[in-house]
Amino acid sequence: MNDAPASPSPAPPLASLLSDPGLARLDAYIAGGWRSAASGGRFSVHNPATGALLAEVADLGAAETEEAIAAAVRAQQGWAEETAKTRSAALKRWHALVLEHADDLATLITAECGKPRAEAVAEVAYGASFIEWFAEEAKRAYGEVIPTHNASQRIVVMKQPVGVVGAITPWNFPVAMITRKCAPALAVGCAVVLKPAEQTPLSALALAELANRAGLPAGVLNVVCGQDGPAMGAALTGSAEVRKITFTGSTEVGRILMRASAEHIKKVSLELGGNAPFIVFDDADLEAAVDGALASKFRNAGQTCVCANRIYAQSGIYDAFAARLAEKAAALRVGDGSAEGVQIGPLIEPAAVEKVARHVADATGKGAKVLTGGGPATAVGPLFFEPTVLRDVTSEMAVAREETFGPVAPVFRFEDEADVIAQANATEYGLAAYFYARDLGRVWRVAERLDYGMVGVNAGVIATELAPFGGVKQSGLGREGSRHGLEEFLEMKYVLMGGV
Ligand code: SIN
Repeated sequence: MNDAPASPSPAPPLASLLSDPGLARLDAYIAGGWRSAASGGRFSVHNPATGALLAEVADLGAAETEEAIAAAVRAQQGWAEETAKTRSAALKRWHALVLEHADDLATLITAECGKPRAEAVAEVAYGASFIEWFAEEAKRAYGEVIPTHNASQRIVVMKQPVGVVGAITPWNFPVAMITRKCAPALAVGCAVVLKPAEQTPLSALALAELANRAGLPAGVLNVVCGQDGPAMGAALTGSAEVRKITFTGSTEVGRILMRASAEHIKKVSLELGGNAPFIVFDDADLEAAVDGALASKFRNAGQTCVCANRIYAQSGIYDAFAARLAEKAAALRVGDGSAEGVQIGPLIEPAAVEKVARHVADATGKGAKVLTGGGPATAVGPLFFEPTVLRDVTSEMAVAREETFGPVAPVFRFEDEADVIAQANATEYGLAAYFYARDLGRVWRVAERLDYGMVGVNAGVIATELAPFGGVKQSGLGREGSRHGLEEFLEMKYVLMGGV
C-alpha cells in the first residue's frame, strides 16, 4: 500500500520543526562550545523521504578532529577521577533530558534518516535505555582481591578507563548507536570524540546539546561532523592519545579502522555487517513466525545490521509461510515516515535503491518469483522501494551472499535441520540469526550450532540494553549493552602490594 507523494513545498527551517528550537544545532561541539569549520565550509543534510534540504552543517575535517581529540585529552584525567557516583548522576540527568525531548529527537531521526515516526519514537526510548543502564552500571565496575600466594603480599585488580575514545556511528540509528557507545565510555570515565554519519548529524548534535545541558564537563563529549569520513577516521586512529576505537558500520570500513588502529595497538570494538538467516521449521507457530519475519525484515525498511537477510522455510510449511508473509508485506504502508501510520520509509540514498533492485533482478533472473512488490515505489518518491517477498530463492543468487539492506524478503526452501544449519552458517558474517521451532531438543541444538553472536528463538527482534549485542567472524569484535558493554571501555590493572 503506497502513499502518493505530497505536493512539493519549501522546507521549513529546522528549528521550526521542533518544540525546543535550541536542539537545532548546526555546528560541531568541541571542548564544551559550538564551532564551525576552520574553512567555513558546510554540508547539506536532506530528508530522504522528500529530498528537502533540512540544514547546512559545519563541515569539519582532520584538523578539527585533532582539536577535538586535544580537548578530550585535556578532559580525560579529571573525568576519570570523578567518582562513579558523580558520573552516574551526570548520565542520569542526560537520560532525563533525552526522555523529556523524545518528541523532538524522534522528529530529527525521521527527518534525516527517514524511518517511520513510530520507529523513531521507539529508537529514542531504546537509545535512552543505554544511558540509564550504563549510569547504573557505572557504579559496578568492580575490581578484585585475589587470594595471595605470599603471606606478606596482597593481589588487587582494579578497573580503570581505557582513556580517550573515538566513536564512529552510522545513519540507521542516529540516536541509539551513539548512546550505546558513548554512555558506557562516559560512565567509566573515558572522554569521547564522536563522529556521526554525515547523513544524520542533526540527532547527534541535539544529543550533544542535551549532554551540555546535563552538565557534562567541557571536553568530555565532543561531536565532530563532516563529509570527509576517511580523513576524520584517520585522525582518530592516527592519534596515539586515542586509546580505543568503537565503530558501527560496514565490514569493509571496520577492516580499515582495525588495520589503522594496529599502529598504536588500540583497543577496538566493531559492530559490522550481517547476513542474518531466519529459519522457520515445520513445527513452528506459523503466524508467530510470519510476524517475527515481518518485524525482523522490515524494521527501518530493512536497513539494520540484524535484519533477516535470508529466510529459510522448511518444505512442509514453505508455501503457506511464503504466501502469508507476502500477504502481510503487501499491506505495509509505504510513505514519508512523518505521516501517520506509515510503516516503510525511504532508503537512505540512490545507491541503496540500486543495490536492492539489483538483488531482485539477479534473483528473478535466476528463477525466483515475486509474490509481492519487486520494484522501486517511484510513485511515492525516488528513494522508496516496495516491500518485496520472493519465493523459490536459491543459494546461487546474490541475496544469499550479500547484505541487501532493504525491504526484500527472499524465501529459501530447506529439507532438514542439518541442511539448514549448513546453509545458515555458509557466510563470512556472524551477527544475528533467528529461528522458529517448538521441539525443545531442536531449539537447543540449533541455538548451539548457529555460528552467530546473537540468536533469536521464536523472536524476531532481539535488541535490548540488557543483553550483549555483537557478532562473530567478520561481523565484528566486542559487545555493546549489558554489563559486558562496560568492559569494552575498561582496562585491568593488577597491583601487587608487598610489605604487608
Ligand atoms: C544496527 O543495525 O546496527 C543496530 C540494530 C539494533 O540495535 O537493533
